[in-house]
Amino acid sequence: MMKNVHQNVLLVAVMSSAVIGIFAYFSSLPVYLIPSTLGWQTSGMYKNSYSKTDKLPHTMITNGINKTIVYDIDILHKELLKIHNKLYERKPNDQCEVREPACVILGVAKSGTQELVDFASSHPYIVLKPGLAKPNMFAKNKDIRRKALLRNGTSSVPCSYSDQTLVVKSDDFLFREGMAKKLYEFNPNLKMILITREPVSRMISGYSFSYFQKKLHKERFLYRPEMLPEMDHHFVDPSSGIVHRNADRDLSTYHEGLKRYLKLFPLDQILVLESNEFKGNPVKVLQRVEKFLNIKPVITDDFFTYVDFKGFYCLDSDKIYCYASDRGRKVMKELKPKTMKILKEYFKPLNKKFFKQIGKEFDW
Ligand SMILES: *[C@@H]1O[C@H](CO)[C@@H](O)[C@H](O)[C@H]1NC(C)=O
Ligand SMILES: *[C@@H]1O[C@H](CO)[C@@H](O)[C@H](O)[C@H]1NC(C)=O
Repeated sequence: MMKNVHQNVLLVAVMSSAVIGIFAYFSSLPVYLIPSTLGWQTSGMYKNSYSKTDKLPHTMITNGINKTIVYDIDILHKELLKIHNKLYERKPNDQCEVREPACVILGVAKSGTQELVDFASSHPYIVLKPGLAKPNMFAKNKDIRRKALLRNGTSSVPCSYSDQTLVVKSDDFLFREGMAKKLYEFNPNLKMILITREPVSRMISGYSFSYFQKKLHKERFLYRPEMLPEMDHHFVDPSSGIVHRNADRDLSTYHEGLKRYLKLFPLDQILVLESNEFKGNPVKVLQRVEKFLNIKPVITDDFFTYVDFKGFYCLDSDKIYCYASDRGRKVMKELKPKTMKILKEYFKPLNKKFFKQIGKEFDW
């Protein structure tokens, strides 16, 4: 059974580099033939990202207690869900049913969308759908919607109680042609959350991610890592200094995606977050999400603790639960200073447009 959700929210995210495949010109970008299985299920790959010789701290003192640190994304996910279940207070006679999404993540890939989704899953009043959202979950036709929601396996939507908010994430909704309109027709009161990142570092992260994806999973790809164009040349033409208009650039031009949404939705239906803000203070950002979704606030400073070595927050429970990897930090490729300068200059006016749209500025 499906129920209409009154408090509708659309969490805007382009989750993974998989989105790149949708761009018409991707044939000119063999680099990005990434299978669309990225997202929640890909987490396993991070397990191999640390070499055995890395000196990871295995204990840490928080609030005077010496706790073990566990580096394993699957265990982290389990612990987040444990907290979710522990804190949820079920109302008598309430039914767990497959409901329509109240919240969709629209983007943007490599901006901390996965971390946002993971951490938010600890919230008892947020239910997250694993994997990626299907556009048909928002189809005008109710039967088509229902079919998309009830699809088997990893794409099925978990049931939720009436006071919980179902969140689904997409990898490409922000830039996907016609998606804003589809969502508007589904529900004009839908809310959205968009998480962004400084455009050039987002591009570097995207490139590094696909590079190391290919190294880890050679068999999945048509093109070997050796065949990747050098990052600098991939972003900027070396002779003319002109920025290539490829999928990496496009995913960083947030104003172009957002423009389509703002034609239909008022800005207060879109919560715009920023990667560094989230990394630097996940509690504060999650509290903004709680407020935006209008759900019972439960997230406190005790939820997460900063682990120096990782430069990121980990779940603080009976143990400290961290991602297995540094989420790409250590494997990040570097741009030549000249290329960096060209790109920074290139994005300056585009960022300005974006800041004007959202009515605030980030430290980019
Ligand atoms: C925390 O516990 C571990 C193992 O029990 C121990 O090796 C470590 O020295 C302790 N750390 C501190 C700061 O007391
Ligand atoms: C979904 O799974 C159920 C039970 O596992 C099965 O009976 C049903 O045929 C499946 N539906 C589809 C469309 O695969």
